[in-house]
Amino acid sequence: MLSPRMQAALNKQVNAELFSSYLYLSMSAYFESTSMAGMAQWVRIQAQEELGHAMKFYDYINERNGRVALAQIESPKTEWKSPLDVFEDIYAHEQKVTALIHGLVDLAIAEKDHATETFLQWFVTEQVEEESAAATLVDRLKLVGDNGVAHFMLDGQLGQRAPTPAAGE
Ligand code: FEO
Repeated sequence: MLSPRMQAALNKQVNAELFSSYLYLSMSAYFESTSMAGMAQWVRIQAQEELGHAMKFYDYINERNGRVALAQIESPKTEWKSPLDVFEDIYAHEQKVTALIHGLVDLAIAEKDHATETFLQWFVTEQVEEESAAATLVDRLKLVGDNGVAHFMLDGQLGQRAPTPAAGE
């Protein structure tokens, strides 16, 4: 059984992951509007991954006989200045998510909830990957600068990202 504090914090994370999904989808819509189809595809797949993260928390709360309570999802930003602007936002966003995950681990330790602490380790590892991927793309876009051909090539590369299977598949 989850403690009331742990349950509330996990429910908050369901909301945070759904917001992440919504934010990435909004970025995808922005890239569609600027004809960056590959980047649109990359962030759209990321939006699906975030939905998968939300569902992992959702399933875990239920598995522990907790009660999922869905709340309103904040509106995401809709406009960016450039691909670099988007990926800088992604990097900053993922750093915030990492801090949220670490806060949950701290709470699980304080509550002596070993099962939740173990469950959260997957997310700790995932955040290392997500921050690293975002930081790499920020670096690459900084190198590219205003070079349109290089943007076009990077767009093609990002469009090759394969969709990840949905959670539970
Ligand atoms: Fe659910 Fe991008 O972390």
